[in-house]
Amino acid sequence: MTNEAQIFDKVVNERRSIRLYDQKAKYDKSIVERSLQRAILSPNSSNMQLWEFVRVSSEEKKKELAYYCMDQLPAKTARELVVFVARPDKYKQSIAHNLELVNAADNFEKESRKEKRRNYYSKMMPAFYAFDFLYIFSLLKKLFVTLTGIKKPSIREVTAIDKKVTIHKSVGLAASTFMLSVRAEGYDTCPLEGFDSKRIKKMLGLPRRAQINMVVAVGPRAKDGIFYPRIRYPYDEVVSEI
Ligand SMILES: Cc1cc2nc3c(=O)[nH]c(=O)nc-3n(C[C@H](O)[C@H](O)[C@H](O)COP(=O)(O)O)c2cc1C
Repeated sequence: MTNEAQIFDKVVNERRSIRLYDQKAKYDKSIVERSLQRAILSPNSSNMQLWEFVRVSSEEKKKELAYYCMDQLPAKTARELVVFVARPDKYKQSIAHNLELVNAADNFEKESRKEKRRNYYSKMMPAFYAFDFLYIFSLLKKLFVTLTGIKKPSIREVTAIDKKVTIHKSVGLAASTFMLSVRAEGYDTCPLEGFDSKRIKKMLGLPRRAQINMVVAVGPRAKDGIFYPRIRYPYDEVVSEI
């Protein structure tokens, strides 16, 4: 194992969901900033970056947010809470940004590759991300891929629900990078999905179409911050090879 792998192994093993945070220990907010900078580098679907991260650190706002997280202990004792938000509503902005980057990249890309990417962002991405209130477009797309899929491999995940899954996968990966980074920096986290998303969105002034992916409690762990032993299915039960 390389030195880097040993360090990474230690970080992964030491990351636990910490449910109680030390209120007196020194708290360095720059750890969260650095960890969010790393989270932004996470892989994400088509580099659409349909995410937003909201830091909640004032006592008053933390208290309100903890209340919307059903007053769970990690939320109530966190030194800071970070809300991971999915922003499907920003898809047009993201397509425009990606197209701008494709068009500007004239020094290091082959013209054929550039054309492919231009097509991808100007045709595929709008078709996938367009709002589909009555699911009519979703049904048509599903029918289309079912038919084309009879003869050749086709991407089957084309509906409005698939779109939601796609975006949340990427936001979840960012949350994972964030939590591992916070541990590497010496602090701890607890991901939370037990919350009232409607009230959180209102509190943060987020638009109706934004979705809360996760709230992550952050801080230095208290002495008794681990509530449960870490239990996982054994490797052979969840991993197979063909
Ligand atoms: C998406 C997600 C949502 C979670 N929501 C909560 C939650 O609302 N409250 C909580 O105490 N823990 C929550 N957890 C933490 C899990 O219970 C925890 O990760 C799991 O028990 C494994 O323990 P470990 O993280 O210490 O390895 C959540 C974890 C994930 C990934």
